[in-house]
Amino acid sequence: MTELTSNKQATLDQIEAATSLDTLEEQRVAALGKKGWVSLALKTLGQMNPDERKEAAPAIQAVRAEVAGAIDAKKVQLESAALEAQLANETIDLTLPGPDLPQGSIHPVSQVMDELAEIFADLGFAVATGPEIEDDWHNFTALNMDESHPARAMHDTFYFPDAAADGGKMLLRTHTSPVQIRSMKEQGAPIRIIAPGRVYRSDSDATHTPMFHQVEGLVIDRDIHLGHLKWTLETFFKAFFEREDITLRLRPSYFPFTEPSVEFDVGYANEGDRRVVGGHGDDEGHDWMELGGSGMVNRRVLEFAGVDPDEYQGFAFGLGIDRIAMLKYGMNDLRAFFDGDPRWLSHYGFSPYDQPTLSAGVGARS
Ligand code: DAH
Repeated sequence: MTELTSNKQATLDQIEAATSLDTLEEQRVAALGKKGWVSLALKTLGQMNPDERKEAAPAIQAVRAEVAGAIDAKKVQLESAALEAQLANETIDLTLPGPDLPQGSIHPVSQVMDELAEIFADLGFAVATGPEIEDDWHNFTALNMDESHPARAMHDTFYFPDAAADGGKMLLRTHTSPVQIRSMKEQGAPIRIIAPGRVYRSDSDATHTPMFHQVEGLVIDRDIHLGHLKWTLETFFKAFFEREDITLRLRPSYFPFTEPSVEFDVGYANEGDRRVVGGHGDDEGHDWMELGGSGMVNRRVLEFAGVDPDEYQGFAFGLGIDRIAMLKYGMNDLRAFFDGDPRWLSHYGFSPYDQPTLSAGVGARS
């Protein structure tokens, strides 16, 4: 018994003195481990007679509990001390200036797409998307351009060598109009969407790049007419350019997927080497920039998309995003949009904090 008591006292003293979790673990193994002195003491019980055992067993168990309790308590103490030390070690001085890292910026095209979504959301439009690798049927046929249609030739299409599952050709979409078809097939009517995205044509000069951006708009409901289209475009451009003196010119035109069809231009003035919207095309230094096409959706298109043209009608428009970005932010060469030059981006790009909101201005520049 005395040996047990003195062993216990020595162990408790060592536990108390332990300064690390490692030494504490050594104490635990030495006492409570398989070959520890407490375990060995418990084994001696087997050789005792019942009376001795009755007396010794509770004493040994009590010692075991006391040692285990001391180890647990010390462990908690050491662990919280270790955490305190780590926290003290890892403090960061938040008042120090940040390192001088290169800063990214939001590309004007992305910014303008966010602005579009913000303005049209306020008018009740949802944002729809479709694939850039499209099939011939969605890109042309369902838009009332069958294989022999001459308008197909105007699209300078990039075709893929392999055919689609249905035997039709696969291509890079030449406009965002196929999203009209996909959205109507998915949701039916009524519908009110915009579809911004990349489009591709085999064409390249100062005002044309093989990849560019369009936004498609589509409104289908009962009793929609051309007046709704005109109001929507005007309201959009006023919100987008953040000025009331926008002049919009609608010209009769032709698209296979609309009837009647209308092209729309916006008046701008040359100020130095910058184009600024506002004014008419008639005066000195003023001109019109063609921004897109639109019209009342052709009955045939509604039929292709599974919408009943006797019940529903609507308008659609397609608009060049890069062009309205150039007009709004004063860039004059489209090709620079896609050069990936960080100097151009740091000049024309936007801070991620410039989130377009209707309350703060859709094109706020910090
Ligand atoms: N998809 C046409 C193009 O890229 C633009 C367009 C014209 C879209 C009239 C429309 C529309 O939705 O109604 O040239």
